[in-house]
Amino acid sequence: MTDSTFLFKGIPMQADFVSVESLLFAQNFLVKDDDVIIVSYPRSGTHWMIEIVSLIVSKGNPTWVQTVKNYARCPGLDSKDWQKLLLDQDGPRLMATHLPIQLFPKSYFTSKAKIIYVIRNPKDVITSGYYIGKHLSLLNNQQTFGEYLHAFIQGDVTWGSWFDHTIGWLTRRDTANFLLMSYEELQRDLRGNMQKVCQFLGKPLSPEQFDSAVQHSSFSAMKENAMSNSIMLRNPEDDTVHNIPLLRKGTCGDWKNVFTVAQSEAFDTVYQEKISRLDPGLFPWSEYC
Ligand code: A3P
Repeated sequence: MTDSTFLFKGIPMQADFVSVESLLFAQNFLVKDDDVIIVSYPRSGTHWMIEIVSLIVSKGNPTWVQTVKNYARCPGLDSKDWQKLLLDQDGPRLMATHLPIQLFPKSYFTSKAKIIYVIRNPKDVITSGYYIGKHLSLLNNQQTFGEYLHAFIQGDVTWGSWFDHTIGWLTRRDTANFLLMSYEELQRDLRGNMQKVCQFLGKPLSPEQFDSAVQHSSFSAMKENAMSNSIMLRNPEDDTVHNIPLLRKGTCGDWKNVFTVAQSEAFDTVYQEKISRLDPGLFPWSEYC
C-alpha cells in the first residue's frame, strides 16, 4: 500500500488509475448486449488480449493498433481518464477492467455481453507486478520482494486478493458468453487460442487476415508499437500524466528467477488451501511452464 492507495468497499485501489467516482460510475454502468469486456487481475496479460481483440475486430489490419493508444481502443471501465469514452463509442464496444466480480456493473448480470477472463500463473503475476510496481513507483520503494509477496498473499495490494478475484470470476465460467483464457495457453499456442477468441466473438477471419492478426499480436510487434507498449498514469498529487512501458519480459516462469525455495513453498501452501476446491484443469500453468 502506498500514499496514493485508498480502500473502496474493502479493496485497495490505486488513485493513479481510479477514483471513488470512477468506481461508482463502473458499478452503475449500463452494459449492452453487444459489449465485449476483457477482465483480469493486473499483470495477467490484459493488454495482450486487448491487442488480440483489437486486431480481430479490425480484421487483421494493423492500422488501428498502430495509430490509436490501447486505452483509447479499449477504455478502462473503471478508469478515471478513459471511461467517459465508453459513452461515446459506437457499438460493439470494447472495454477492459481489473474489477473483482463484486464491484462489476450490476447491469452485466442480466445482459448478454461477452467477457474474456484472462488468468496467469500467480507467481508470474506477483513477479511482474513487483517489477512494474517498482518501475511505476506504485510500491513503497523500500518494500522488498518478500514484503510484497506477503502483502500479495494477504490481498493487501492494489485490486485486492488474487485468490478472491480468481475464485469470484470463475463462478461465471459455465455461463454463456464467458471465455476463460490463460496467459500460458496464449504462449503455448497463440494461433490456436486466437482462433478460439475469433469463434467466441463470432468474427471469423480469412487466412490472410488471421495471419496478420497473429503477427501483430506477438511480443516483438507489441514492444515496437508505441500505441501498445504503454500504460498511462495520472499522478493524483500534481495531475501530471506519465506513459510507462508495459511490456517487460513476456515469458512464463520468470518467477523462478525471483522466488526463493522457501517463498515458493510458502506460496504453494496458501495456494493449495485456497484453490484446491477448484478444478486444477482450469489452471494450465504447471502443465505448460
Ligand atoms: P511480464 O512483466 O512478465 O513481462 P497486463 O497487461 O495484464 O498488465 O500484463 C502485463 C504482462 O503481459 C507483462 O508480463 C507483459 O510483458 C506481458 N505481455 C504483454 N503483451 C505480451 C505479448 N504479446 N506476449 C507475451 N507477453 C506479453
